[in-house]
Amino acid sequence: MEKINAVITGVGGYVPDYVLTNEELSRMVDTSDEWIMTRIGVKERRILKEEGLGTSYMARKAVKQLLQKTGVKPEEIDCILLATTTPDYKFPSTASIVSEKVGAVNAFAMDISAACCGFIYTLDLASTMIQSGRYKKVVVVGADKMSSMVDYSDRATAPIFGDGAAAVMLEATTEEFGVLDSILRTDGKGLPYLHMKAGGSVCPPSYFSIDNQMHYIHQEGKTVFKYAVSNMSAVVTDLAQKHGLNGDNIHWVVPHQANLRIIDAVAQRLEVPMDRVMINIGRYGNTSAGTIPLCFWDYEKQMKKGDNLILTAFGAGFTWGAVYLKWGYDSK
Ligand code: UT7
Repeated sequence: MEKINAVITGVGGYVPDYVLTNEELSRMVDTSDEWIMTRIGVKERRILKEEGLGTSYMARKAVKQLLQKTGVKPEEIDCILLATTTPDYKFPSTASIVSEKVGAVNAFAMDISAACCGFIYTLDLASTMIQSGRYKKVVVVGADKMSSMVDYSDRATAPIFGDGAAAVMLEATTEEFGVLDSILRTDGKGLPYLHMKAGGSVCPPSYFSIDNQMHYIHQEGKTVFKYAVSNMSAVVTDLAQKHGLNGDNIHWVVPHQANLRIIDAVAQRLEVPMDRVMINIGRYGNTSAGTIPLCFWDYEKQMKKGDNLILTAFGAGFTWGAVYLKWGYDSK
């Protein structure tokens, strides 16, 4: 039997209209454009301001655009997997809401929780589903409304995050394109350094949790930074070595957009020049599961069929990993 690969055949994306600039942020907390640009690299981020709209709103816009671009009919979709840390509700899944809104009547749908690594974990899982031969078209979405859990009086986290969503169509091919390999890792020792203290089953919402600001992102930035650089560097190096990839034949590095200094360090380790590293942190900030597919969305026209891509991410858990992907199409 011929080997089946899972190839990306299209990208859709959505970011909200509202632009939160560093200038506006500087009026909310004690910070400056200069500090944010030198320490993080974010100039502005998009915020979903409208009351009553959550992650599914952005996700469904991204999926609708994806369907329109690929010409795939909603009823042809076998499965929608949606990576998010900011679901619309605790239950049902955000993916189930998206599937109804886009008319994916024959799909099963579920959310995957892996923080900022959500997209690469989910892409890898979806690719094994396609490789099994049982599923032909799987939609993988990365979507987060980070503004729903950012404390806009905390200067240590407020500048970092933004809202956004993007989706890819994954389909079967017998050619040597698509998701070719991955190294994915998790270490639960990361819990104290990056989490939300309340709202889960350990500490359900209460007056106490609200009074004590426990429904916001808690991050010990320096520690997370250190682990992000060392762990991402290790997996990208291992994956590159395994496949004989280096600065000459890696066409694109697609890193999670958490901090420009982290992106720099990882690119240096791979010896890939910065003009072959996808970067949009300046415009969107860290959209968690959204960052990597939003990079595809922004850079789609620059990619060529056969390009070698290394994706890499790091997030709460800790979760981290790298994916080797061969791009499958020239965009029109
Ligand atoms: O996506 C999930 C994974 N997350 C990450 O990968 C994030 C990793 N961490 C980081 O990106 C960085 O650690 C941060 C951007 C969060 C922070 O940057 P840093 O260079 O590690 O700064 P710091 O927290 O060590 O703070 C340095 C100084 C402190 O002042 P003192 O103590 O030196 O006087 C902070 O109080 O900068 C101060 N500071 C700020 N100043 C102006 C912290 N935040 C701000 C701010 N504006 N927004």
